[in-house]
Amino acid sequence: MKTVLVTGGAGFIGANFVRFLLKAESAVNIINLDALTYAGSLENLKDLPESDRYTFIQGDICDFGQVNGIFQRYPIDTVVHFAAETHVDRSILGPAQFIKTNIMGTFTLLEVSRLYWLRRWPHDSSIAHGRSASPEQVRGKSAWLVNKTLPVDKARFHHVSTDEVYGSLRPDEPAFSEQSPYAPNSPYAASKASSDHLVRAYGHTYGLPVTITNCSNNYGPYQFPEKLVPLVILNALEGKPLPVYGDGQQIRDWLYVEDHCEAILRVLFKGKVGETYNIGGNNQPTNLEVIQTVCTILDERRPSSPYVPHNQLIHYVNDRPGHDRRYAMDTSKIKRELGWQPRHSLNAGLAKTVAWYLDHPEWVEAIRKRGDYQTWIKQNYEQRGESL
Ligand code: NAD
Ligand code: TYD
Repeated sequence: MKTVLVTGGAGFIGANFVRFLLKAESAVNIINLDALTYAGSLENLKDLPESDRYTFIQGDICDFGQVNGIFQRYPIDTVVHFAAETHVDRSILGPAQFIKTNIMGTFTLLEVSRLYWLRRWPHDSSIAHGRSASPEQVRGKSAWLVNKTLPVDKARFHHVSTDEVYGSLRPDEPAFSEQSPYAPNSPYAASKASSDHLVRAYGHTYGLPVTITNCSNNYGPYQFPEKLVPLVILNALEGKPLPVYGDGQQIRDWLYVEDHCEAILRVLFKGKVGETYNIGGNNQPTNLEVIQTVCTILDERRPSSPYVPHNQLIHYVNDRPGHDRRYAMDTSKIKRELGWQPRHSLNAGLAKTVAWYLDHPEWVEAIRKRGDYQTWIKQNYEQRGESL
């Protein structure tokens, strides 16, 4: 039986992963550690399959005492690390939280993991300043009780990262491969790049059994509606403007979230320790094309809506500062070595996503009535000359 610590499992991809893992693997217990920031919600985790193999803990990955306490209490042999601040626009308006969560949080998880899995290394107790763990507790025997028999080759620290660490591609440049140099452009991307470097360094220096995946833009059920795809679906249903940043010709590689979950599982079970794998949906539409496709799907699903054709709602608004023009992922390594490729075309994935949002009005209402969501929408779009 494996015991998997999922961080950020109340967020969009994390919650999909928890559901996916519980269904796919019967020999797994899941501990879900999530701070329940504005982006995380227990609404995403209602009616879980096989929930007796699942424990939720509200807590902060930056809190050494709390993370240490979890490793003390549960025989964690696998970490799948999703928890992060993730919205580029928010990172532009307030980068500090991104630096803290994405860099210090990852560092804390790495430190605790090496403390439990790699006993030959002395531990730097200077970060154990949290209330719930003294350096003595950390150094002391109790820290080893649960995991003392865990051979390190049974452990795995998997870090979930983004294609944004590679920067922006010109139209004629080949897709990002695992060898592409890092050139992050936003505070979000820079904080994720830093966390990737830390994970890699812990693998290289200490021999921590790490893997990293860098994936492209996800979409699908449970995505917080400040991100492009759910925002467009929900605004179109209500006849609100569909805000296009700049000229809408920016290109992303769109990945259906369930395909992403399957790829992570493949890397966990078959991936080689120390390796990075790129994950993508093998499509590169412009933002405008994505919005048009969502509008067409809604025209078909809601033919009697007063807003048909929904693309009449498209509004161009001020661009994002430093907006990356193009991302594209070369996924040949994960296909060749692990036999993974996305199952969903963009059209099929978007059709499923639209259907999910139409079928879950209670989820939408619960998520959108939170004050922080309303405040963000007002702040983000007013500065772009739009009122939503
Ligand atoms: P999300 O914003 O929907 O969820 C993040 C989750 O992390 C939330 O549940 C939040 O409460 C939790 N969290 C934040 N700070 C925390 C802290 N200090 N301690 C514990 N939990 C904390 O994000 P997502 O879209 O699900 O992304 C998950 C991961 O995938 C992130 O690491 C992100 O960088 C990466 N990623 C996302 C995408 C995408 O398109 N969504 C693409 C590439 C990579
Ligand atoms: P987003 O979903 O915020 O993801 P990311 O910034 O991580 O790529 O945005 C996806 C693309 O859509 C990005 O190029 C910005 C653009 N965008 C808009 O054009 N309008 C919007 O209202 C939003 C939220 C994003």
